[in-house]
Amino acid sequence: MEASRIAIPIGTALDRFIKNNQDQFQYASGELSQLLRDIALASKVVNREVNKAGLIDIMGAMGSQNSGGEQQQKLDVLANIRFTRALAKGGEACALISEETESYVDLNNDGNYVIAIDPLDGSSNIDVNVSIGTIFSIYRRKSKEGMPIQELDILQRGAEQVAAGYILYGSSTMMVYTTGHGVNGFTYESTLGEYVLSHPDMKMPIDGNIYSINEGLANTFSPSIKSYLEFCKGNNYSARYIGSLVADFHRNMLKGGIYLYPATIKNPSGKLRLMYECNALAFIAEQAGGKATDGTNRILEILPRDLHQRTPFFVGSKNMVEKAESF
Ligand code: AHG
Ligand code: MN
Ligand code: MN
Repeated sequence: MEASRIAIPIGTALDRFIKNNQDQFQYASGELSQLLRDIALASKVVNREVNKAGLIDIMGAMGSQNSGGEQQQKLDVLANIRFTRALAKGGEACALISEETESYVDLNNDGNYVIAIDPLDGSSNIDVNVSIGTIFSIYRRKSKEGMPIQELDILQRGAEQVAAGYILYGSSTMMVYTTGHGVNGFTYESTLGEYVLSHPDMKMPIDGNIYSINEGLANTFSPSIKSYLEFCKGNNYSARYIGSLVADFHRNMLKGGIYLYPATIKNPSGKLRLMYECNALAFIAEQAGGKATDGTNRILEILPRDLHQRTPFFVGSKNMVEKAESF
């Protein structure tokens, strides 16, 4: 029988929260806690840079391309450096998968954890002062520690995540994460330099009336997606689309809604990346009572064949995702 837990009050600092909950984790050695703290610290640095974006020369394109052949923004590159350094420092991580690097980055062979990260999500919104984010997934390695990393450590199903989260650099900055025991949200208090618990045990409404999709691409969607969109309009749903996945997901998580990025003619497997965009949000959605699929399969069950694999993505309130699937 599990010992009864005293509810952790709103206002609790993230570090204390992580420490208090460490024993929920089966390998409670403190390494995962340290990784979460390292991610939080790096996000504070990125937050500082995001907030100054208009004042210093960090807006605009780098002139280079990322793993998906997309234009890298200066902040994409900067955020990637900040998170990579923070995660390499403590030695807990053996490998890092990032949107910004073609192949995975080898870290400490003695480390037990593999991290997948989208350092800056929504980069087309950087220059126009619209919310952007960071998305991360954490896995235990499968091979023995001390050995070089193998493919089975890297290409794990989302169901094997031990923790996942996102940071939203929005009207306030928030870190939301799960270790498989519910979802908690922390708001950054900049004068204290601390994340404090503001959204304990987050639950996604089971139903909603917001649909989030880039409807400008509708001509290139399948007939079933088109008829689902007609259904949304027939029911007077609200269309809300920021173009930053983290921000769209977060809104739907709080208000109830569905986010859709289906297959298009340009991206026949969808646009979003399984390993560092969809898996983390799918894990969080499920932990909050929501649902995530590729149209037929549970996102968390998909076995990745490639680091940068794309997938159609339907995530949000359980009833809404099920309704969309029925089309
Ligand atoms: P990233 O900035 O990490 O490349 O991700 C952009 C993603 C996601 O954040 C967003 O929901 C989606 O691209 C928007 O795509 P469209 O512009 O095609 O709608
Ligand atoms: Mn992204
Ligand atoms: Mn990105």
